[in-house]
Amino acid sequence: MSTNAPERGRIVCISGGTSGIGAALVSAFLDAGDRVWTFGRDPAKLHTLAARWPQALSSGALALMEGDVTDAAFLAQLVARLESGPARLDVLVNNAGAILGSGTLEESPEQWRATLEVNLIAPFALTQACAELLERSAAPAVVNLSSACAQHPFKTCTSTSYSVSKAGLDMLTRRLALALGPRGIRVNGVAPGVVDSEMWDGASDLMQTIADRRHVLRQEVVKPADVAEAVLFLASSSARLITGTTINIDAGYTLG
Ligand SMILES: NC(=O)c1ccc[n+]([C@@H]2O[C@H](COP(=O)([O-])OP(=O)(O)OC[C@H]3O[C@@H](n4cnc5c(N)ncnc54)[C@H](OP(=O)(O)O)[C@@H]3O)[C@@H](O)[C@H]2O)c1
Repeated sequence: MSTNAPERGRIVCISGGTSGIGAALVSAFLDAGDRVWTFGRDPAKLHTLAARWPQALSSGALALMEGDVTDAAFLAQLVARLESGPARLDVLVNNAGAILGSGTLEESPEQWRATLEVNLIAPFALTQACAELLERSAAPAVVNLSSACAQHPFKTCTSTSYSVSKAGLDMLTRRLALALGPRGIRVNGVAPGVVDSEMWDGASDLMQTIADRRHVLRQEVVKPADVAEAVLFLASSSARLITGTTINIDAGYTLG
């Protein structure tokens, strides 16, 4: 791994870049001069993103695909397009994720399976599929979107399957860092507390209440751009010796 790799013009793949934290990541990497590939399932969200970045789309700085991160055929198609295009990948951000149920005994096994598929198995499968492309980068990095809910059974984390999926993701981050380190690929995670994103579906009162109770630092709700900054740091050469760790971006949510 080079310590002086260029930090502009990187090839970046972000799962679920069409809303919330993912859209902030697209914006931050484009602003940094990188080339971003992203995808999601909902064509309407893809259109919204395309309308926001017309020049990036026409210049090839932004590539959008409609696809489901839990669909193996789609992942194969994505990797094939990266292969026939830039033929390498510098940064992979496993961002797509979802809360699909609530409660503990109330959640169905189907909700559990669907949650683990998108939040845990898909980040593994996408990283596995991209490993060869990443290995061709001068300074490859993977960043996983975890959650404060992975670290403690907070009552404010309403879905047990979600918390467990993110706890599994934290261990996956460390196992992948161990497995991919010898190939020069760093793997880290970020664990936001409550973030003001579409995931909360406009429930801003609830979000603020949770932030007031748990965000000890100035009671502030974390913004998607705050998370994006931390991801950019972990993807940069400033973090070249950091691997296998997950950084909390939670204004103190996990402190007590
Ligand atoms: N918001 C928070 O408070 C918070 C806190 C901690 C961690 N996080 C984590 O941060 C990540 C982003 O969350 P967010 O708040 O930005 O959520 P969001 O606004 O709901 O965005 C989720 C993104 O993922 C995509 N997505 C979901 N399922 C997908 C699938 N099966 N295949 C492809 N794309 C899929 C969505 O697009 P489509 O629906 O069109 O597919 C959307 O672009 C998640 O991993 C989440 O668990 C969020």
